[in-house]
Amino acid sequence: MGRDRKVTVTDFLNMKGGQIVMVATYDYITAKLCDQAGVDGILIGDSVIMNLYGFPTTHYATLRDIARHTQAVANAKPRALVVADMPFMSYEASRREAVKNASKLIRAGADAVKLEGGEEIVDKVEAIVKAGIPVMGHIGLTPQRVLRLGGYRLMGKTAEMGLKLLEDAKALEEAGAFSIVIEFTAAEVAAEITRRLRIPTICIGAGPECDGQILVLHDMVGLSEIEPFFAKKYINLREQILRAVSEYVQDVKQRRFPGPEHYRKMRREEYERFLKMLESRDEAQREGMHSRC
Ligand code: KIV
Repeated sequence: MGRDRKVTVTDFLNMKGGQIVMVATYDYITAKLCDQAGVDGILIGDSVIMNLYGFPTTHYATLRDIARHTQAVANAKPRALVVADMPFMSYEASRREAVKNASKLIRAGADAVKLEGGEEIVDKVEAIVKAGIPVMGHIGLTPQRVLRLGGYRLMGKTAEMGLKLLEDAKALEEAGAFSIVIEFTAAEVAAEITRRLRIPTICIGAGPECDGQILVLHDMVGLSEIEPFFAKKYINLREQILRAVSEYVQDVKQRRFPGPEHYRKMRREEYERFLKMLESRDEAQREGMHSRC
């Protein structure tokens, strides 16, 4: 694949058996940086509502939130495939609503949408795909269903759970999904699903035997408050930002900032004219005060 050409869903399908690299991020600058670094796909995850807005779960993300952040990422004109998460309750009610809401994310600049769930949502996946919108599935730990799952737990721990996940994955493939995210799932189950699907699997906390990996940028760079054990931290930006802002506070308090390189002055003659004008103004004010007494 040429470095300059836009990545398409067909490229993802062709990368089956290879290593697709995706990052979840939510804004113009970081999308541009991730794209320059060579990722194949950028996900505008509903985790935006936790990482950027401080909400406790992804339930609080709305279609408007995701659409706005999708626009920001699309403004970076990334070569990477742009996938937008369909948030909680934007696709559950009916096929019609699912298609309508998916189309809003496409109009915001996404190349594809991602839906959480297995067999129970295949009718929605089918309808969205039929409308011409590529769908990425998401199984295993599905944070939008965390209340029913009873917490952020490892999925596919038992043979029965593993089989159910395989059935979910197969159903999504049948419905026309072009790839599937497998989150926080026993590695053996993710590996077996990967072997048995024609479409690529992209894993997060589900081991190495998948067709790709996805990490949330905030976890990778050390900005997240909760640090999932399965995310590798490449840099500690929290520490670096804390250090930088503390230094700035001290610089201002100790009058070390701004330095001469951070501001500009008037020309000398202009400054002298300015001082004269101030002098005449002060004098006029003094005279005014005297004449009132
Ligand atoms: O919302 C998100 O960031 C995600 C990733 C964890 C895959 O869905």
